[in-house]
Amino acid sequence: ALGAAGLFVAAFLLGSIPFGLIISKVFYHTDLREHGSGNIGTTNAIRTMGKVGGYAVFVLDFGKGLLSGLLAWWFSWNILPSGGLAPGVLVSYDTMLAVAFLGCVWGHVFSPWLKFKGGKGIAVAVGCLFVTFGWVGACLELLIFIVLVVATKRVSIGSIAAAAACPFFALYFFWGDWAAVAFCAVAGLTVVWAHRENIKRLRAGTESRIGDRKRA
Ligand code: G3P
Repeated sequence: ALGAAGLFVAAFLLGSIPFGLIISKVFYHTDLREHGSGNIGTTNAIRTMGKVGGYAVFVLDFGKGLLSGLLAWWFSWNILPSGGLAPGVLVSYDTMLAVAFLGCVWGHVFSPWLKFKGGKGIAVAVGCLFVTFGWVGACLELLIFIVLVVATKRVSIGSIAAAAACPFFALYFFWGDWAAVAFCAVAGLTVVWAHRENIKRLRAGTESRIGDRKRA
């Protein structure tokens, strides 16, 4: 499954680019990791740099996720001769989509450029899911996120719920293709794990709310 391994590495490297940190350093002359929750993602970027900087981080993180999904498509049809199947080992197209998803999320969460302490993977995962689950699946995931964020005023609750739902979506979309289900499930659970500090704060009742610009 050379194609799948190559795809994983490519998606990981793409995911590892820390756009939040780069934007904060280049355009705001500060380090996002020293503000708010210390996270390099969209939520903390909006909290720290405001809407323009924050949305820029979202678009770029989302974009690298989307691009890694497109890489799965490209690898499947151009690198692998049999159109969707890896040479030798049978790797389905759905598995390739799931490999790109996991690679990109892991690259972002365990970025080697940040001593393996990266972001929480939400914007990246949404970008990936538009390809991996398709737009209907991605929009349903977004719906879970938006409803919970609006209802609770806490971004992390929407994030954790959407990430926890990911294995169930994977079962629905990839039933029978257990490798694809497993890679998607691990990606979703990685995003939940990346929110462990948020979970502690939620339990302690100290998690920041939307509009709260101070410490998270
Ligand atoms: O996507 C990250 C979000 O769920 C939480 O971000 O900065 O509040 O920890 P933050």
